[in-house]
Amino acid sequence: MKDILEKLEARREEARLGGGEKRIAAQHAKGKLTARERIELLLDENSFEEFDMFVQHRSTEFGMEKSKIPGDGVVTGWGKVNGRVVFVFAKDFTVFGGSLSEAHAEKITKIQDMALKMRAPIIGLYDAGGARIQEGVAALAGYAEVFKRNVIASGVIPQISVIMGPCAGGDVYSPAMTDFIFMVRDTSYMFVTGPDVVKTVTNETVTAEELGGASIHAVKSSVADGAYDNDVECLLQIRRLIDFLPSSNESGVPEWPSYDDPDRVEPSLDTLVPENANKPYDMKELILKVVDEADFFEISEKFAQNIVTGFGRVEGRTVGVVANQPMVLAGVLDSDASRKAARFVRFCNAFEIPILTFEDVPGFLPGTAQEYGGLIKHGAKLLFAYSQCTVPLVTVITRKAYGGAYDVMASKHIGADINYAWPTAQIAVMGAKGAVEIIFRKDIGDKDKIEARTREYEDRFLSPFAAAERGYIDEVIRPRSTRRRIARALDMLRAKQVEMPWKKHDNLPL
Ligand code: HXC
Repeated sequence: MKDILEKLEARREEARLGGGEKRIAAQHAKGKLTARERIELLLDENSFEEFDMFVQHRSTEFGMEKSKIPGDGVVTGWGKVNGRVVFVFAKDFTVFGGSLSEAHAEKITKIQDMALKMRAPIIGLYDAGGARIQEGVAALAGYAEVFKRNVIASGVIPQISVIMGPCAGGDVYSPAMTDFIFMVRDTSYMFVTGPDVVKTVTNETVTAEELGGASIHAVKSSVADGAYDNDVECLLQIRRLIDFLPSSNESGVPEWPSYDDPDRVEPSLDTLVPENANKPYDMKELILKVVDEADFFEISEKFAQNIVTGFGRVEGRTVGVVANQPMVLAGVLDSDASRKAARFVRFCNAFEIPILTFEDVPGFLPGTAQEYGGLIKHGAKLLFAYSQCTVPLVTVITRKAYGGAYDVMASKHIGADINYAWPTAQIAVMGAKGAVEIIFRKDIGDKDKIEARTREYEDRFLSPFAAAERGYIDEVIRPRSTRRRIARALDMLRAKQVEMPWKKHDNLPL
């Protein structure tokens, strides 16, 4: 018996070494952790249960039968994050560059199937060179098996991808179909085809970082939802994110103990909005003062910063927050902001996370660049996303709610349950200057008349009361009591139920 146990231990030791000491040292020299080290950091201590540690590839092409490494380039299993079950797979770059073989794909699909069956989140840690070249179509088939499962699980369990090294070819498409992608700055990059192929096909010379580093995907392309400085910080942040997320679309949001009084008043909010309506202020201050313990996990922080999206908690329960940001482009809605917020709203609705909307928006961004770029379709995405929500929706208008953007940003008319406005709110078709120049065009030469008309327009329309008189705003609230009002609204809305007509699926304006 002793012999057998020793043999088992020796085989486990061999598997744990992956591609061997030399390749592990090379991995560390690049500032990256190994697949197993990453899993250790991601999961609660000693909670990881590994599967398929001895799986090997079955390829015999190009002498591959002579080079087999147990585990075959991916470490898979399950564990816990702050006591809640998650499934995980981590590509092991030290084994055939983490490339995907038929057997490697089978390990991943096994975990995907289990995560779906157990209704628990799945997290993929990527550091890989795409399809195992020696396996040809078997590797392509393996990817397609993974992709199909990504789609089946979409909207049922949260799927998170973390890019921690190269990620090329087939390895970008599975993350692209998951809910969130995070990257590590300077050591990770994602692209469909690498710099060498780019050079051959388009004669462009680019570095891997310029083509698909975190500085591109978390800022310009919006492929990634965030970037962190190193493996350790990144994994700790993923743990934080998991704490906000439901385990599945039917589990309900997690409830954590909160020591933050839901009745807490914030007198400083009474002066957050400047007297001059054209002056910016930081909407994040409001978010941080409303959510429990100022704990806010921002999604896509560096992309389309004119809108803020992220998760917070109220009375210990997760809420999604969508907020116009007057500090950037005056909080205007453009194509990027609309797409960013639409995707976030759809995630929240799919996973039964109530949505809090803070609104200060001067409208949609005019101009040929926006129109040629499809602003109509992109803006419609956000309108569509909010309109199909069945989760509790609470909206607070802090200042401007102009034009179509008023309708889009969770107005009463498209399904919001509770609509509050601060006394500083201005709910109108447009600002005073634009409005007066159109409806009193004939008086434009007469400064006094125009000034009088402007004042008249401001008094009548640039306030929350025209909307409140019609019941479009449920109550004009004092800014300092915003947290209390929101907490009470969310509590009342817990049992919300909305029936939608049966359909196969909608036709979102993609
Ligand atoms: C087999 C691979 C591999 C692959 C890397 N390796 N990629 N083995 N198939 N796709 C192996 C290398 O042979 C090497 O083995 C080890 O992994 C480390 O690779 P290096 O090149 O030494 O590392 P590095 O210089 O860091 O470069 C990493 C890399 C590069 C950028 C990922 O290896 C690379 O460009 N790989 C190919 C990427 C690619 O084009 N993949 C196919 C995409 S097509 P040793 O034994 O020396 O350690 C695809 C189709 C699917 O994925 C489409 C589905 C939609």
